[in-house]
Amino acid sequence: MIAHHVKNAVEGQMLAATLFMQASNAKPDKPVGLATGGTMDGVYQQLVANSFKPGFKHAFALDEYDGISPGSKNSYLHELTEKFSKALDWSGQLHVPGQGLYAHEAGNQEFEEALADLGPLSVQLLGIGTNGHIAFNEPGSDFASRTRRVELHQETVSANSIYFDDPQSMPTHANTQGLATIAQADMLLLVVLGEHKQAALTKSIRHPDQSTPLAALLEHPKLVLVTDQEF
Ligand code: GLP
Repeated sequence: MIAHHVKNAVEGQMLAATLFMQASNAKPDKPVGLATGGTMDGVYQQLVANSFKPGFKHAFALDEYDGISPGSKNSYLHELTEKFSKALDWSGQLHVPGQGLYAHEAGNQEFEEALADLGPLSVQLLGIGTNGHIAFNEPGSDFASRTRRVELHQETVSANSIYFDDPQSMPTHANTQGLATIAQADMLLLVVLGEHKQAALTKSIRHPDQSTPLAALLEHPKLVLVTDQEF
């Protein structure tokens, strides 16, 4: 793992945006992997500030709430459409597990097939949950897992329900790339910012085991960490 220590969140988001642009520009015929959440909002804002013009034609999302309407402001498809595609004036195709083309029974399998046909990804953006989840691979997830429907942990429901106008309406399930799916990317760009992530990061790196999904990715040949935390 290559670790970059930064002073604060803004510096981390700027560095992550720079590394993302470099990695995707180096392989413009390959798709990229996108993530969602507060950390990534700032990374996408930095891409916009840099007037980034993507060369890639396809982007694969890590995960999405199960059964959420694509028009809901809480759907990750909506979030990526607004904060990535529209913000960068990018007209390429977003592939989101369980949404659009993939919103049916065999959707997760077809998502895997599209990824295999078009991939590998030049770079996959990653965050971490306060409970250590990667995408929606919760603690205890199989390291060999592929894209599938999962049940969210109570800590994830509590952490993410604050983004819903009616917290009770937060879905309890999601579709997520598996840990083995994520590991296929040429480069993993993990962005961990804020004190509330420190415990999950430290545990995942110092005591990796089945309860720390990041453990499945620590031996990846190109895992790049950007963090403002000690671990
Ligand atoms: C969600 C996503 C994860 C992301 C995490 C952290 O749960 N499914 O992929 O890493 O949030 O998000 P934030 O950056 O908002 O802390």
